Amino acid sequence: AGNRTFTMIKPDAVEKGHIGGIIEQITASGFRIVAMKMTQMTKTDAEEFYAIHKERPFFGELVEFMTRGPIVAAILEKDNAVDDFRTLIGATNPEDAAEGTIRKKYATSVGENAVHGSDSDENAAIEGAFHFSGREMF
Ligand code: CMP
Repeated sequence: AGNRTFTMIKPDAVEKGHIGGIIEQITASGFRIVAMKMTQMTKTDAEEFYAIHKERPFFGELVEFMTRGPIVAAILEKDNAVDDFRTLIGATNPEDAAEGTIRKKYATSVGENAVHGSDSDENAAIEGAFHFSGREMF
């Protein structure tokens, strides 16, 4: 039981071979995997997923980065999932991320920051539904 959040292991972390280390830390922290797959976002996917950032100066770079290779998308369940997952991953910029957090260990920069975590229950539901059909959630 509990509520849900949505995550992606981003192309930088997949390229560096960190899928296993990141999933291990997530499950060891009490999250249950509800849905999971390896996939690659198209330019159209990334522009839609990150539409809220469309006016930001880094939008083009963000779309380019998120489409350059495969990601691992997942829906995770735990009490207080959204907030606890954001604590587990650490600050957006790895230089500001707390010791032991996923971004502190695996992220390269503010753009190439290894993992995504939803920022609200509402966005977790929207983002999960963007990547998974009902049949892919367990
Ligand atoms: P995330 O919070 O998962 O979703 C939005 C992403 O935009 C963020 O991770 C970063 O990867 C990216 N981002 C945020 N700020 C910057 C920035 N200043 N330069 C490049 N990318 C950024």
